[in-house]
Amino acid sequence: MVAVKRIVLGVSAGIAVYKAALLLRLFKEAGHHVDVIPTEASLEFVGLATWEALSGNPVRTSVFEAVDTVNHVRLGQEADLVLIVPATADVMARAAAGMANDLLTGTLLATHAPVLMAPAMHTEMWEHPATQANVATLRARGVHVIDPAVGRLTGKDSGAGRLPEPAEIFALASTYLNDAAASEGSSFDTALPLAGKIIAISAGGTREPLDPVRFLGNRSSGRQGIALAKAALAQGAQVRFIAAHMDQPAPAGVELSHASTARELQVAVNQAAHGADVLIMSAAVADFRPAEYLDSKIKKSDEHADPVITLVRNPDILAMLVAERATEGDSGTLPQLIVGFAAETGDAEHSVLDYGAAKLARKGCELLVVNEVGENLTFGTDENSITILAADGSAPVHAAGSKDDAARAVIDAVIAALTR
Ligand code: CTP
Repeated sequence: MVAVKRIVLGVSAGIAVYKAALLLRLFKEAGHHVDVIPTEASLEFVGLATWEALSGNPVRTSVFEAVDTVNHVRLGQEADLVLIVPATADVMARAAAGMANDLLTGTLLATHAPVLMAPAMHTEMWEHPATQANVATLRARGVHVIDPAVGRLTGKDSGAGRLPEPAEIFALASTYLNDAAASEGSSFDTALPLAGKIIAISAGGTREPLDPVRFLGNRSSGRQGIALAKAALAQGAQVRFIAAHMDQPAPAGVELSHASTARELQVAVNQAAHGADVLIMSAAVADFRPAEYLDSKIKKSDEHADPVITLVRNPDILAMLVAERATEGDSGTLPQLIVGFAAETGDAEHSVLDYGAAKLARKGCELLVVNEVGENLTFGTDENSITILAADGSAPVHAAGSKDDAARAVIDAVIAALTR
């Protein structure tokens, strides 16, 4: 049975406030006690009656209400987790400055519980140096500020600033509640298996530009990498997510970096891998790039012959990191567990697994996740069938089902390898 936790759900004034109502439902369905603290301005979007009815508790915004209960101190002191969903630029600025001019910011000063903020605002406001400085201050103090999702915003525009889906915030919040339960020795036996571990995950497909409008790319959707990140977060890991081109936004709760070409991905993966415990290379990296990039669009012409594209090799990111780790020796900071992905097709002479085993040996990584690819297999679909091969001779693990099922199997194999 899940232990009942006391959650303070702060809501500030953004259009995404309606999603906080759905999040509140998820906490209630899980059996937790939730005190909602809206800012005064947020009541323009969703009123007190909604919060009281959904939480089953009285809801106040000011320190001058229910003064006899010393609400502004009590709620923070008693909380197991404080969330602000959505967190506006304004509330983060006030929190960063240590202000206590309403019940929500007062509660933040009075709590020792983990604090999780999910910002939502227009891209310009999110990227403004003032907001970024406030986010950096809050993070330095231990507040978990989730990077906003990228997608449709209020009105016609889209960009970074979208509130992640309630289920994603719920999953992330649950890792804190589980950790707290574990450290209190309550109904959870042990801490989550990846608590305290840093996992770097690359995802999506690289693009190699030919001219300003064309590129060489691949069919990778990034969905398997996203599922891996969620599975790692759910087991308590801190996730550094390096996104190449994907057809879906990165999950909430990761430290996000972006890369477009293989060489950009190499730089970003290098940075993320140093200091991480595990690297999972699920990105589909282009092995070749055009030898030449043309500054203007390649045009057809009747006077000249049709162009021939010459390709040159891209760096093999995974193999280079394995080699760098070997030269670093014991004092190095590269992950001791490196997981590769092998997109393979079988042929008349060799099976998919034969090619997988040869690739595991060639790449020198600890685990290789082999999947069969083809026109309608794996790329862009929600299904996956994988075999996880281990360099230490452990028995191969097969998993089939959704990409979430495959991701869980890979994360289980990572947990097993870390404890071997
Ligand atoms: N990989 C990489 N850098 C590259 C190519 C691949 O880091 N330039 C990584 C992938 O992210 C994956 C693993 O290596 O984890 C295997 O990728 P795959 O494309 O299957 O293998 P290749 O080495 O490119 O071999 P080939 O395409 O010749 O089968």
